Amino acid sequence: SENQTVMPRALLVPVKGILLPDHIAKDLDAVSAFCPHPSDILIAAFPKSGSTWTAEIVDQLLHNGDVESCRRAPITVRTAFLEICRKSSGLHQLKEMAPPRVIKTHLPIQMVPVGFWEKKCKTIYVARNAKDTVVSFYHFHHMNLASPEPGPWESFVHKFMHGELAWGYWHDHVKGFWEEQEKRDILYLFYEDMKENPRREVERIMKYLDLSLSDDDIGHIVELTTFKNMKENPMTNFSFFPPEIYNQSISKFMRKGEVGDWKNHFTPEQSAAFDEDYEKKMKQVFIDLI
Ligand code: A3P
Repeated sequence: SENQTVMPRALLVPVKGILLPDHIAKDLDAVSAFCPHPSDILIAAFPKSGSTWTAEIVDQLLHNGDVESCRRAPITVRTAFLEICRKSSGLHQLKEMAPPRVIKTHLPIQMVPVGFWEKKCKTIYVARNAKDTVVSFYHFHHMNLASPEPGPWESFVHKFMHGELAWGYWHDHVKGFWEEQEKRDILYLFYEDMKENPRREVERIMKYLDLSLSDDDIGHIVELTTFKNMKENPMTNFSFFPPEIYNQSISKFMRKGEVGDWKNHFTPEQSAAFDEDYEKKMKQVFIDLI
């Protein structure tokens, strides 16, 4: 048929109670055994929470906000995605990179390779409003032809609430890192804070990484990592990525970059049901992401 895609869409398989795309599940033992260098930096997030943005900021902090260096290669080359790569996990890519490597993961905390904790690697977590995350993930499923079939919006939201999307329950994901942040010295960021005051958050990341850049260089980073600039930058907007995987004529990777887009997608009934479920699942922790 006309809609036939070249890429087979992923199937989800449970691994230790977490649903993962089949191509990731198959390499997970090797990923779990990955041994980072102490200077490596881990960026963890549930999908669509701002991990590319955070990775870009960290890479630029490591390069003093130099325009040339942030355009030296695509973001997927400058930073490695631990459990995913076009042909296999990110492990092959990591072998070619020199520490300090910026490594991104969507794995929940209990699946993060123990090496990251043993080596006391700096770990940055970014969380985003639950409803905006579902919306972004929904559009992403449409354009990313390697992701599972999204199905209709109504059932997609249902799956999100019940941990039936890739990488499992969002609730457990954000809570898992939240509860461990002090013990494991995790810098816990919020997408909404980054939108509200990007300079403040860039400075927080800088201090956490024990870096010290000039005010000018920090200013450059804030400017280079705005939504608009990252959308225009061919090294961050995924125009370099094969269109048979990311079909950006369906939806851009750099889609909207806004807070509160959920209001354009949720009906009042869906929103009320979502809130009620959220209260139940999130009541033990003090994180307000709704
Ligand atoms: P939207 O789909 O709501 O636009 P991830 O990188 O973790 O997959 O997250 C992707 C989401 O972050 C997308 O959200 C994307 O547009 C947004 N994003 C990426 N870079 C951004 C930036 N510089 N500022 C704001 N949002 C950004």
